[in-house]
Amino acid sequence: MSSFRTDGEAALEWSARYLERIRELPVLAQVAPGELSAKLPASPPERAEPFSAVLADLDELIVPALTNWQHPRFFAYFANTGAEPGILAELLAATMNQVAIAWRASPASTELELRVVDWVRQLLGLPEGWHGHIEDTASTSTLAALIAARYVTGRNIVVCSEHAHSSVEKDARMLGMELRKVAVDGDLAMLVDGWDADEVACVVATVGTTSFASVDPVRALAERAHAAGAWLHVDAAYAGSSWLLEEERWSQDGCELADSLVVNPHKWLLVPMDCSLLWTSRPEDFRRAFSLVPEYLRTPDDAYALSDFGPALGRRFRSLKLWAVLRCYGADGLRAILREHVRLAELFASWVDGEPGWELVAPQRFSLVVFRLDAGDEENEALLERVNRSGEIFISHTKLGDRYVLRFAIGNARTTEADVRHAWDVLRREAAR
Ligand SMILES: Cc1ncc(COP(=O)(O)O)c(C=O)c1O
Repeated sequence: MSSFRTDGEAALEWSARYLERIRELPVLAQVAPGELSAKLPASPPERAEPFSAVLADLDELIVPALTNWQHPRFFAYFANTGAEPGILAELLAATMNQVAIAWRASPASTELELRVVDWVRQLLGLPEGWHGHIEDTASTSTLAALIAARYVTGRNIVVCSEHAHSSVEKDARMLGMELRKVAVDGDLAMLVDGWDADEVACVVATVGTTSFASVDPVRALAERAHAAGAWLHVDAAYAGSSWLLEEERWSQDGCELADSLVVNPHKWLLVPMDCSLLWTSRPEDFRRAFSLVPEYLRTPDDAYALSDFGPALGRRFRSLKLWAVLRCYGADGLRAILREHVRLAELFASWVDGEPGWELVAPQRFSLVVFRLDAGDEENEALLERVNRSGEIFISHTKLGDRYVLRFAIGNARTTEADVRHAWDVLRREAAR
């Protein structure tokens, strides 16, 4: 085994160089399906190789097959940032390799997680007294919320908007729960009436839908859910981070009534994948739904374990990267980045709006712009393919009704106004072909 220190220096050097030359790389991977598989050995290595061989293969094999999420001109899905303090914290977390199955198995992981998740609660202006912990993804956080809702209500029906994220449907399906999708109004917000609330276990409201960043009327939905004896879960996976900004707090209206709420710092709070925060105002109900302590984990010291609040027993030290990002940027630094993203989205929306032959198809909210070329679906689909194949920018699409529309999401901390301008130039250039 070669030296950990020497290999570590080389790995860190590789990481630094990757980030320094990120602009030279195509945003979308320019490979065909199966191209990497064909280059990878079909069988595992029998003999040990030096770590330097792994590093060499990063450049040779892996980088060409990367879609570069760290690229400042990544505007697809919900663009994100794995910030440097978070990257280093991942190295340190793996070094300590904590497996927080119980408090004594990692007092540090358990207590730091509780504290930093509470820091984020304070920064976002969520109610005091909520209990928060970290799951891997919003899909798991919402799964946990549905499990708690079913446990508490003894019911089996989930209600959400037709624009709720597919994870709600997948979670309900995995749990064998019945999902009912509710139509939206002209603002793409879930209708509060016109659907049956009887026997509903959980109403899921979304703040910042995936396709349009639209905002459901959380207060009215919470009141309706609670009057019917149902649980109210809020999916603010993307837009919840915007509550760092006072001017975006309008979208938090009614969230204080939630039974559970999820926000993903790996989407828009600079924390490297994966880090999903799940709060509940009903920790004892949550604990009753999940707690199952086998004999080998019973200890005389405080048995407080965060595995009592979700599906997984072994929990990794995810709070370390959140702690590092919060400390190294400070709330002020994070606010400045998010505010700039919103400004750039407004600017891009104003360009689209002012250009003949283009249209905004939904109100611009947070850092997302949904737009299209004023032409048929096929032209828009072909345009998306051309701009993405250029490697200069990466955007994604969705459908509004049956119309194919384009999404431009800003979320990378390196993105500048020049990058957004470049993207607009590429779009107009390719549209003119
Ligand atoms: C609103 C919303 N909820 C949930 C998810 C799922 O997130 P995750 O990948 O963390 O499961 C997404 C993903 O983009 C999303 O936009």
